[in-house]
Amino acid sequence: MSDTIILEVARFHPERDTEPSYQSFEVPLRADWMVLDALNHIKDQLDGSLAFRWSCRMGICGSCGMMVNGVPSLTCESLLMNFAPGPVRIGPLDHFPVIKDLAIEMDEFMGKLQKVRPWIVRKDDYVPKREFIQTPKQLAAFQQFTLCINCMLCYAACPVYGLDPSFTGPAALALAERYNLDSRDQGSAERTDLLAQHDGIWDCTVVGECSEVCPKNVDPSLAIQQYKISATKDWFKTWLMPWGNK
Ligand code: FES
Repeated sequence: MSDTIILEVARFHPERDTEPSYQSFEVPLRADWMVLDALNHIKDQLDGSLAFRWSCRMGICGSCGMMVNGVPSLTCESLLMNFAPGPVRIGPLDHFPVIKDLAIEMDEFMGKLQKVRPWIVRKDDYVPKREFIQTPKQLAAFQQFTLCINCMLCYAACPVYGLDPSFTGPAALALAERYNLDSRDQGSAERTDLLAQHDGIWDCTVVGECSEVCPKNVDPSLAIQQYKISATKDWFKTWLMPWGNK
């Protein structure tokens, strides 16, 4: 087997280019390298102008997401050897505006995260004398959804988001469900008022690609379907018992 591999890397300079192109680089094919190591080799040794994001190099920060041979992937967890003999095509995450090369614009995604109120909402002013106690069962109800690292791979895989960027999208909706299911939270009615509207939970068509590509097995598709069921139950309750609390 060759001891090098070709990386075809997307290049786009917004002040110069009208559309992206691919540039080929020959890099060492080392058994212990991830795709991110190969990109860092290009930046350090071949072309320092290549733009991409990464931080932790251990699948935690969520910043190194890119399209690797057309699949949304964390490049720090994608073994280069798995793509031998190559070439490997690296592009920016689908469905996002590109700032430069492999770096995408994240502002809209950040706005969506904020919109779902991803914190514990309390209606009362009650200040507990000690922490709110949760049973292991109460924790288990939402723990899976706490594992999201906001890598946005699920947005790059979601065909609904690809067609309609106003869709709140998998990670933000899974995060909303994480707090709805938290026994300490009292904000689910408020969130549902927002997310049962157009662009919210009902836009999801259950393609399930978001869950397929999630590197943390969060299963955002499951979260959204659970959310739909609880929103439907709430709607029936308010319709049948308009005098009752949600
Ligand atoms: Fe942090 Fe890949 S560099 S997840």
